[in-house]
Amino acid sequence: MKDTYAVFGNPISHSLSPFIHQEFAKQTNQEIDYLKIEVPPDQFTEHVQAFKKAHGKGLNITAPFKQQAFELATIHTDRAKQARAVNTIKFLSNGEILGDNTDGIGFIRDLLEHHHVYLKDQKILLLGAGGAARGILSYLLEQQPQLLTIANRTLQKAIELADEFHSFGNITSTSFEALTNGFDLLINATSTWLSQVQFSLASIISSSLFCYDLKYGKETQFLNWAKAHGSIKMADGIGMLVEQAAESFFLWRGVRPQTIPVIKLCKKKLHYS
Ligand code: ATR
Repeated sequence: MKDTYAVFGNPISHSLSPFIHQEFAKQTNQEIDYLKIEVPPDQFTEHVQAFKKAHGKGLNITAPFKQQAFELATIHTDRAKQARAVNTIKFLSNGEILGDNTDGIGFIRDLLEHHHVYLKDQKILLLGAGGAARGILSYLLEQQPQLLTIANRTLQKAIELADEFHSFGNITSTSFEALTNGFDLLINATSTWLSQVQFSLASIISSSLFCYDLKYGKETQFLNWAKAHGSIKMADGIGMLVEQAAESFFLWRGVRPQTIPVIKLCKKKLHYS
């Protein structure tokens, strides 16, 4: 019997994870099954336990279950502890459920290796102070930017997050209204891109600013907005998606797949050009 993996989420119909992992498996000559399972919001634990009982080897976890997965895991990697969220589960032979988080490493690899955006001594503006923002913070600060500013609709959450990551580097917080310009990198880690913040942000866009959206798609709302306001350097999160998947695959299979060909295939599948 082939080793079986799955992605759990809700909704899940548009997930590219089965496609990505089957491409990795082909590339590395491995035989795996990879399922896509829409889990009812109140049945996450039951579904994980049932998958484990059926000898499933591992899971990817997406919205809205990453925090629940963190609580369910019986042991955690350091990066999962830091993110307080789990996007990858590995069922260990001793019965433990290992919770990992590969989002942050996936993000930074995409930024550095595919987009060649280097952060040392740069000024970064991060929009959002929820789970997605938390998952990438330590990776950003590790690159020793001059300053990382978190802007969030609810200022208090930005303040708390900046306090928590203070020991990792130069980090501060602001409301959208108090934003000034002069940033080199703008990252969108909000879950919904809505008009309230667009007005305050328009003035910080310049042709030298690199805009990165953690969401992926040929045209994301955030990147369309950035383009309309004069941004010419930008990336969506498709590379991050493939890189985080590659790190999960490595955790499960011990083999590191090539990501560039798979990013290209994903873009083709989503009609990027
Ligand atoms: P995720 O795991 O995707 O990060 P989350 O933890 O719920 O989801 O965080 C959502 C983020 O998007 C938060 O920073 C949230 O701002 P608040 O802390 O003020 O709620 C932000 N967000 C969601 N809807 C928003 C909107 N309409 N305008 C601005 N920010 C928004």
